[in-house]
Amino acid sequence: MSGSTDAAKGPPAGDHLEIKDSRTGKVYYAPITDETIRTADLKQIKVKPEDFGIMGYDPAFMNTASCRSAITFIDGDQGILRYRGYPIEQLAEKASFLEVAWLLRHGELPTQKEYDKWVADITYHTYVHENIKQFLTGFRYDAHPMSMLAAGVSALSSFYPTAKSIHDPVERDIAFVRLLAKMPTIAAFAYRHVKGLPLVYPDNSLPYAENFLSMIARMSESKYEANPVFARAIDVLFILHADHEQNCSTNAVRAVGSSHVDPYSAVSAGINALYGPLHGGANEAVLRMLEEIGHPNNIPAFIESVKSGKGEHKLMGFGHRVYKSYDPRAKIVKGLCDQVLAITGMSKDMEIAVELERIALSDEYFIKRKLYPNVDFYTGLIYRALHFPTDYFTVLFAIARTAGWMSQWEELLLDKEQKIARPRQIYTGYGERPYKSTLDYTHRITK
Ligand code: SDX
Repeated sequence: MSGSTDAAKGPPAGDHLEIKDSRTGKVYYAPITDETIRTADLKQIKVKPEDFGIMGYDPAFMNTASCRSAITFIDGDQGILRYRGYPIEQLAEKASFLEVAWLLRHGELPTQKEYDKWVADITYHTYVHENIKQFLTGFRYDAHPMSMLAAGVSALSSFYPTAKSIHDPVERDIAFVRLLAKMPTIAAFAYRHVKGLPLVYPDNSLPYAENFLSMIARMSESKYEANPVFARAIDVLFILHADHEQNCSTNAVRAVGSSHVDPYSAVSAGINALYGPLHGGANEAVLRMLEEIGHPNNIPAFIESVKSGKGEHKLMGFGHRVYKSYDPRAKIVKGLCDQVLAITGMSKDMEIAVELERIALSDEYFIKRKLYPNVDFYTGLIYRALHFPTDYFTVLFAIARTAGWMSQWEELLLDKEQKIARPRQIYTGYGERPYKSTLDYTHRITK
């Protein structure tokens, strides 16, 4: 940025903004790169030399790029989603979740040798320390599984203290493996604990999704046989949920990771961010919304309550900060839904969901606001058909997003431009005022 009233100096070469400060008449030039200007460059725009300088103000980062990333590309208007350039539709149709997890981190699809070792390493690390089991079974019988998952993952940092050596690629490699391997185990332990069922240990003769379903559902049988349609549905749902550029939970992982804490602590922050009903908790909220509607005949009244704008109802599973057209993942999930329900039987909730979507997509309120189904709208219907409890849906989202969180965390660490995340503020509080206490510290609390 060059700040000058001397027009003779002229603007910088290349694309730039010309900014005139009406307070001083000074003209500044801001180079445009990648359709952005560096907000830090604005700091030189001052009235007096002692001023802090102009800042950008962007609550919820509606129009702020926080990083450069090569992992996921989204075009919200076109409904495009690509992981490292590969269209999500092709990955969902042909790839496995662990192959996609490798792709997200390394930027290229694995060779057969790389893939076989990656799967073997992850399979080898599916067990957790027995103390984790004791820790998890200490939760109340009705604990929300997301609380158990966040706590369990955070506790891993105490079992693997060398993970603090975040600049050691060997430590990062094993942290990737351990988290991808142990998330399903911790998640399944949480499920079984809340159900009051004995915990089922990993069966390392099974592939990833089947092993997870075995830890969830195995009872007295010596070996769990997952329905192949259900196992593939889980693997595809993991692919669809694996990453999504700078969403709320990834932003949390990057912000916490920027303090150079270990990856288990950073991912635990992401789990807690995902828990929120506006983010990953939406798939749980969709099912509760469908239950509340109860019958297709009640849809028009519900839609009216959403449109009334009193805020007590949102159409959960609809709308997106980036997608202003149909979320490409929602289309794939809807197709998966049909496959699973063809086996489990059509559900009342699915009938309501299909009718709700039909009505909403033809309603001016939603059209005007470009509100379309997002990934969460149909996902919960599959999880419900597979008999997962409603409050467990976001746990399934978190297992998958671990691949993205870890890949984004490492990209942050390796990005020379990144430092500890520490935004500024616009101060709106009091000016200086003298402290005068009116309290009587000898006062005792009386019944
Ligand atoms: C995920 O970021 C990601 O990538 C997230 C995610 C990922 O993979 O990580 O894709 C996963 O979190 C999907 C989103 C799941 N959340 C929901 O389904 C919850 C319901 N959706 C909304 O809360 C909302 O659409 C958000 C939070 C998803 C996006 O909100 P924005 O971008 O902040 O939009 P907004 O709240 O400013 O809404 C713009 C307008 C408002 O109306 P007006 O004030 O202009 O009159 O649209 C309305 C909103 O009231 N609106 C909705 C609505 N979503 C937005 N009205 C009714 N129902 C909705 N769902």
